[in-house]
Amino acid sequence: MSRYTSPTWYKDAVFYQIYVRAFKDGSGDGHGDFKGLLSKLDYLQQLGVDCVWIMPMYPSPLVDDGYDVADYRNIIEDYGTLEDFKAVVDGLHQRGMKVIVDIVVNHTSDQNAWFIESRSSKQSPWRDWYVWSETDQKYRDARIIFLDTLSSNWSFDPSSGEYYWHRFYNQQPDLNYDNPEVQQEMLDIIDFWMERGIDGFRVDAVPYLFEREGTNCENLPETHAYVRRMRAHVEAKWPGRILLAEANQWPEDVRAYFGDPGAEEFHMAFHFPLMPRLFLALKQQSRKSIVDIMQRTPVIPPRAQWCIFLRNHDELTLEMVTEEERQFMWEEYAPEPRMRLNLGIRRRLAPLLDNDARRIRLLNALLFTLPGSPIIYYGDEIGMGDNIWLDDRNGVRTPMQWDFSPHGGFSEADALYAPAINDEIYGYQHINVVQQQANPESLWYTIRHMLSVRRNYRAFGRGTFEFALPENDALLGYWRALDPDDDAGGEPERFLVLVNLTDSEQTSGLDLSAFAGIAPVDVLTGQPWSQIDAQPYTFSLPPYGYYWLRLR
Ligand code: GLC
Repeated sequence: MSRYTSPTWYKDAVFYQIYVRAFKDGSGDGHGDFKGLLSKLDYLQQLGVDCVWIMPMYPSPLVDDGYDVADYRNIIEDYGTLEDFKAVVDGLHQRGMKVIVDIVVNHTSDQNAWFIESRSSKQSPWRDWYVWSETDQKYRDARIIFLDTLSSNWSFDPSSGEYYWHRFYNQQPDLNYDNPEVQQEMLDIIDFWMERGIDGFRVDAVPYLFEREGTNCENLPETHAYVRRMRAHVEAKWPGRILLAEANQWPEDVRAYFGDPGAEEFHMAFHFPLMPRLFLALKQQSRKSIVDIMQRTPVIPPRAQWCIFLRNHDELTLEMVTEEERQFMWEEYAPEPRMRLNLGIRRRLAPLLDNDARRIRLLNALLFTLPGSPIIYYGDEIGMGDNIWLDDRNGVRTPMQWDFSPHGGFSEADALYAPAINDEIYGYQHINVVQQQANPESLWYTIRHMLSVRRNYRAFGRGTFEFALPENDALLGYWRALDPDDDAGGEPERFLVLVNLTDSEQTSGLDLSAFAGIAPVDVLTGQPWSQIDAQPYTFSLPPYGYYWLRLR
């Protein structure tokens, strides 16, 4: 069975996250759209990604950039039509790629017809689709997520004289999952898009579906029960298609979202706590925080898979670190107040790492070898910059930089939805796809190379994970190994990944007596290392060096 047709294809896949508005303008109105995206599918294929994640594409007043859905069964006009969407889905499939889309299950836009009906009167048959209350004093143990803008999760609706509940902006009322009609409607919407050929969903804001007094209203048993129903529905009607959970929680709480064989929940879930620790480890010049969080990460069921990432369309969230670590991260990575947002940092990968090619490559080398399926955020493969002066999280959602022409070749229009980055370091005149594709030493080529090497093996997506820790804690090492299984066959795979988290050369050793006689080969360069005999086996890594060693 091929990577593409396997029922667990998502375990071998590399994902690529696309904000359609920012990717390519095909209609000339200054907004990216599906026609534009269609013209760039060859680019995605060249890069070597396996599955695209499309952020919300539904009609929306865009208070939260489309995470406020006004109509779940259509495409926002700026992006084109359902036919344009279908053309992208088909085009991806023809090129051997899959596609998942965002589904926003917890809340809608206040412009959604359901909410307009619901707020029209207390007697409305839609009243119970949302969470209404006479007071704003219920569920006081639920935290506020958009801390910089909101002071309550309740908003008063003057027309019907009650408060409604919302975990995000007040224009994003929460649906009431105690209502069986709401539960059924979301399953019908899932079918609507599955019928259009998609391969699954990234399910937005999962932990908050139900509310119960005396709890923090996250991860409630009722929420898990509904997710199991959703999974059973998908499994029965759409086998081979996936559900990916966005649950920004500690590993043990996310573990529950995979469910267990026979009572499964999500196929995949993001590993939120790992992400900030990759950045922490670089500044602390120590592997400690990575080791701690991986040791705190429970084993997951055989069909489950983590999704790992460095950056995405939101602020770099610091919800899943200690208060002390958060202060450290803010001081080190967000020295200017404007760089901070809510409990996070609104910056892109390259600027976070001072545009240091060594550190950018190093974090990518980790992204593609740590356990789970990696996700690349659009533009990070060329090291795009950000614009912290744009509102909210818009500074990390600027136009993709394709070439040297005006607006980086993103659009022919004069005015764009947001200006292309235009500064001396990250401006499209300096950083763009054409420039990087002309230079074999570029970040783009490095990432493409890592993906093409990764594709030759299954251990990185499916293998076991075990630390191999040299005494020197500036060095991180781990084993990824896979024995051949019945359907795939082939040789056993065993890799030792070694990285140097510091800006100076580091030397250390490991007891590799179990592998005496073998000469490890760095699969990224094809270079053999010296044969393993005397113990410990010693090695030196250059500043921010990384090796993917195969022991065979
Ligand atoms: C998720 C999205 C974020 C959005 C929020 C509310 O966290 O990633 O962009 O604002 O959900 O839908």
